[in-house]
Amino acid sequence: MTTTEDQSVSDAVTAGSHATDIARSGAATFRTGGGQADPARVSAVVGAALEGIRAAIREQKVTYEEFDAFKRWLISVSDTGEWPLFLDVYLEFEVEKVAAETQDGSVGTILGPFWLDGQAQLDSPATLPMRDDEPGTPMILAGQVTSTDGTPLAGAKVDIWHTDEEGWYSGFASKPPAGNLRGVVTADDQGRYEIHTRKPAPYTIPLDGPTGQMTLAAGWSPWRPAHIHLLVTAPGHRTLTTQLFFTGDPYLGNDVASADKPELTLDPQPTGNGDEIRSDRDFVLAPE
Ligand SMILES: [Fe+2]
Repeated sequence: MTTTEDQSVSDAVTAGSHATDIARSGAATFRTGGGQADPARVSAVVGAALEGIRAAIREQKVTYEEFDAFKRWLISVSDTGEWPLFLDVYLEFEVEKVAAETQDGSVGTILGPFWLDGQAQLDSPATLPMRDDEPGTPMILAGQVTSTDGTPLAGAKVDIWHTDEEGWYSGFASKPPAGNLRGVVTADDQGRYEIHTRKPAPYTIPLDGPTGQMTLAAGWSPWRPAHIHLLVTAPGHRTLTTQLFFTGDPYLGNDVASADKPELTLDPQPTGNGDEIRSDRDFVLAPE
């Protein structure tokens, strides 16, 4: 997210605290599991994670000064509520790869920290909530939701959220109003959906918080290519968590969150209606 420094300070803290509240409350109930304290599993996973860090200390000959800086950084991640941001940017893509090993259907990718519950419920064809003068290229995203055997999934739900043309998420940045460019669209009796929105923009993770500061300190790009987030659900089927990107985006292949995949790139075409563009994308859900 880019803006003036003063605004980005407040936005990073706001975004961090909101994302932390959501993670703490377990609001993302579409993704259950975890929390089982099997000692063998805890020992295996936590042990491997700690050993990875110990190996880094040995191999890089980490100094006490660096160790103390690491402690301060970890504390600041907590203080700013950036644990969801840090974890979703730098680790979630590996968890998603593991999950994808056992999931058929359309290609997925990470959820990220900016999903919100309780958004507008809309029937297809739907226009997402937006300001009267919402900037950006008008865009239609449409397609069909089916099961892996081709059966249309009537009433499938397409939960969609993305930034505005300036790279801001409603509910996390102060500028867009609540609910802007977010909604849950119910597909028709053939599983078809059509969503009218605006093309989103690339954005940086917040640069004033510890995640962004670490990213810049390492000389890494803080940018995410423009993308649309989607959660596609239907009864009896595993939820598809995915994102859609745009051909020609300068940040494709260099996504700070490592979430972009070639299969997820859209190539919208003009509809002939002003500067409106359209992409068609079907989603295939795996039965549970
Ligand atoms: Fe995003």
